Amino acid sequence: MNVSLPVPDRVEAGDREEFREAVLAGLSRTPRAIPPKFLYDARGSELFDAICELPEYYLTRTETGILADCTPELARLAGPGCALVEFGSGSSVKTRLLLDAMPDLAAYVPIDISRHHLDATAARLRRDYPGLRVEPVCADYMALEALPIDLNRADVNGVPRLGFFPGSTIGNLEPHEATAFLRRARTLLGDRGALVLGVDLKKDPQRLHDAYNDSAGVTAAFTLNLLRRMNRELDATFDLARFAHDAFYDPLEGRIEIYFRSLAVQSVAVAGRIFTFAEGERVHTEYSYKYDDAGIAALAKSAGFTIDRTWTDPARLFAVVYLETAP
Ligand code: AVJ
Repeated sequence: MNVSLPVPDRVEAGDREEFREAVLAGLSRTPRAIPPKFLYDARGSELFDAICELPEYYLTRTETGILADCTPELARLAGPGCALVEFGSGSSVKTRLLLDAMPDLAAYVPIDISRHHLDATAARLRRDYPGLRVEPVCADYMALEALPIDLNRADVNGVPRLGFFPGSTIGNLEPHEATAFLRRARTLLGDRGALVLGVDLKKDPQRLHDAYNDSAGVTAAFTLNLLRRMNRELDATFDLARFAHDAFYDPLEGRIEIYFRSLAVQSVAVAGRIFTFAEGERVHTEYSYKYDDAGIAALAKSAGFTIDRTWTDPARLFAVVYLETAP
């Protein structure tokens, strides 16, 4: 019988407070920016799932294809009896490919900031994998310090840990943040640990542009949903018709930049304060960094990992890398 960790009653109120503080701070600084994790309320998560199905958004289906082919080799590299630790597990669809290839896992430890996603995922996996020990950890994977306690609870301390960070989620992080995250992941995974990392690759800029400017407008709805969320949760007065999604590739920085842009001079109330936007002013919501082989190697090295194996699709759109702790 698996026992979930206790959740304080205040968790919802705490989330709202964190959102309020991040938004007020983000709109008060120059240039304005709101961290990407706030894009994922219930509707935002649904819209992101829809993005993953878009014809232009090649990332998800390409990575899934790579994983479907490489899991046997990946399972051999990891060896039997390890604990699979997933950072930001969401709905754990790709995880199933690993679970199917690794029937003798000591445990599956999904880490997710959303209690709702975590519980739903854990319940589905326990139903579909009756022999699997599922030990969910409700936490922000960017603040990993507290996690070892939970892993002790899960009693998987003695077995090698295999981390899983798919989806090019690392692309949301600026290089120094990506290094800091990987260093913490390395500490958490331990001396015999390894990490399976999904990374989107540099490619034709038009292809990159289209992936974040789909013709159905789903990515625009995803960005503008942040305004809806502020209206609902922070008593904000954003008029969604007077802002636009703005996403473009910067080849020098090697990243997609995403903003919402004000279409007019306008003042908006947010949590009792007034913010004035110039016409054309942008509020940053996301980076999506794209890597090449040298960039992946530098990133791994900066965090004390070595690259054991890299798998890509034939068109080299996306890479899955197997990182090991450098001796
Ligand atoms: C979840 C960060 C990998 O950068 O491709 C997709 C997020 N934003 N379309 C990405 C996203 C707009 C996505 N990541």
